[in-house]
Amino acid sequence: MSNASTLSVRVARKRVEAVDICTFELVAADASPLPAFSAGSHVDVHLPGGLARPYSLCNDPTESHRYVIAVLRDPASRGGSRAMHEEVVEGQLLQISLPKNHFPLAHDARRHLLLAGGIGVTPILCMAERLANTGAEFEMHYCTRAPERTAFRQRIADAAFASRVHFHFDDGNAGQKLDIEALLAAPASGVHLYVCGPKGFMDAVLKAARASSWPEARLHTEYFAGEVAASGADVAFDVQLASSGRIVRVPAGQTVISALAEAGVDVPFSCEQGVCGTCLTRVIEGAPDHRDLYLTPEEQAANDQFLPCCSRARTPRLVLDL
Ligand code: FES
Repeated sequence: MSNASTLSVRVARKRVEAVDICTFELVAADASPLPAFSAGSHVDVHLPGGLARPYSLCNDPTESHRYVIAVLRDPASRGGSRAMHEEVVEGQLLQISLPKNHFPLAHDARRHLLLAGGIGVTPILCMAERLANTGAEFEMHYCTRAPERTAFRQRIADAAFASRVHFHFDDGNAGQKLDIEALLAAPASGVHLYVCGPKGFMDAVLKAARASSWPEARLHTEYFAGEVAASGADVAFDVQLASSGRIVRVPAGQTVISALAEAGVDVPFSCEQGVCGTCLTRVIEGAPDHRDLYLTPEEQAANDQFLPCCSRARTPRLVLDL
C-alpha cells in the first residue's frame, strides 16, 4: 500500500537500454492507475540500504499505467546507481515519492529548444513527447559519447517527432557535432531553452546562451548531479531550530542534514548533491554559504532559504524554520 506521500510500485520490467544504462518500468503494486505527472517531473526512488535518489520520468506523460525511469551506472556512484543496476530486479517492490516537477515546460513559449546531454535525455524526451502530443513547435538536440551509449535511440527513431531530433556523437565526425554557440547565437522572441545533462555540458550551454543575451527567464535547467564543494576548508557552525530554540552544532566535514539527523531532526532529502530541491529549508536569520545547483542566483542572493544537504553557513549561526 501507499501512504499520502509515497507510492508502492513493482518493477514490471528492467532492461538494458544502452551501454551502462538500464530502464525500469514501474507499475502500481496494486495495479491501479498511477498519479498523473507533467513533462519534466521526477520521482524519488527509495533504494535498498536506505538511500533515496531522484530519477526523471521519461515516458509519455499521458500514460497512467506506468512510470519509466532510466539509470546510468556511475563509476563514482555513492550507492544509488549501483543499487539500481545490481540489486533491483524485475518483480521487486519499491517505494517511490509522488511525481514532483522542478523543470516544467513554459506553456506560453512560442517555440521550445530542448538540449540533452547523455542521461539528461530523460526529462527532455518526456518534454518532446508532450510537445509533440500538443502540436507545439520544438527542436531537440541530443549529445552523447557514442551511438551505443545513446539511450532511447530506437524509441526516438520510431517516434512521430523523429525528424525534430538531432543526434550528436562525441566520437562522430566533426560535421555532426553540436555547435552550441551557433545554435544559440540569436535568441528569437518567445523561444525557451531547456537543458539537462552533465555539469560541463550544461555550463557550456548556459555560457553560450548568456553570451548571446538569452533572457534568464527563458533558460530552464535541471542538474542531475552536483559537484558538492570539498569540505577541506570548512569550519563548524551552529544551526538553531526556530520552533524550539535548540542549537545543533554542525562540525567541519559534516553536512547540516546529517548533523540534524544525529540530533533526531529529520529533514527530507533525496539527491544529497544540491540538485533536487527536496531538502529546501527556510532560513530565518544568518547567511548561508550556498553550494547547490538548484536555486537561481537571485534566490541564493535572497538568503532566505538553502539546501542543507550541501550548503553551509557564512555566519556563525543559521536560524532555520524547523
Ligand atoms: Fe537534493 Fe538537498 S537532497 S537538494
